[in-house]
Amino acid sequence: MIELREVSKRLGGRQILDGMTLAVPKGMNFVLMGPSGSGKSVTLKHVIGILRPDSGSVQVDGQEVPAMGRTQLMALRRRMGYLFQNGALINWLSVEDNVALPLREHGRLGRDETRDRVHEVLRMVRMDHAAAQYPPSISGGMRLRTGLARALVTKPEYVLYDEPNAGLDPIISKQIHELIVEVRDQLGVTGLIVTHSRACAVQCGDRIGILDQGRLGIEGTVDELVHSEHPLARAFLHGGTD
Ligand SMILES: Nc1ncnc2c1ncn2[C@@H]1O[C@H](COP(=O)(O)OP(=O)(O)OP(=O)(O)O)[C@@H](O)[C@H]1O
Ligand SMILES: [Mg+2]
Repeated sequence: MIELREVSKRLGGRQILDGMTLAVPKGMNFVLMGPSGSGKSVTLKHVIGILRPDSGSVQVDGQEVPAMGRTQLMALRRRMGYLFQNGALINWLSVEDNVALPLREHGRLGRDETRDRVHEVLRMVRMDHAAAQYPPSISGGMRLRTGLARALVTKPEYVLYDEPNAGLDPIISKQIHELIVEVRDQLGVTGLIVTHSRACAVQCGDRIGILDQGRLGIEGTVDELVHSEHPLARAFLHGGTD
């Protein structure tokens, strides 16, 4: 379980999070929506301990993240995959080497085991045919799949997805959403998904929360929010297909 309680954070002279409370139960996909600059990525960074709150509590499975030392944070990050906004691949490394990075960082597997694990996860995201290619020569959808493979390669219990379908057409987006659902249902991964996309929220989510003025302005099941007349729900979830 991921749990933020009353988290506040000032950055660049602005109060970005202001009493943010959020709970992601195990086995669920929680979708976090909200305007650009409202603090969605900042929230994810608190969960993996890149940022520390000014006040409030951030816990993963009952352990306080801001109190963790280096070793504990490393252990947490092995259990938590992060799909960065825009994939954040390294252009001069092949797809295969990009995906292997977290395994090499943690340094616990031998060369053959690393290769086997990388190919296993590339098969899962249907990218094994492109293992030897380089990020600049593959499409946006393939870059996202590669980023997802890298987030999954350590067999995490949690994955944080930062805009998993940004810049992708609706067909490729749908394939990514199906993968995210597969990751939840077949691997039992708990997900925290940041997105602007209604389709992503509805297709991947169990619960949705919408950030407004530094905290969740509304939160509930996908069904509750899709049918809610609350102005935030209307703004982010009504109308259109995306
Ligand atoms: N390290 C930092 N130092 C100063 N300001 C920061 C830092 N990180 C984020 N911010 C600011 O905090 C605000 C929230 O940023 P964040 O990246 O969480 O937005 P977001 O909700 O993810 O938006 P988007 O949908 O555009 O990705 C922004 O105004 C950003 O400029
Ligand atoms: Mg962001």
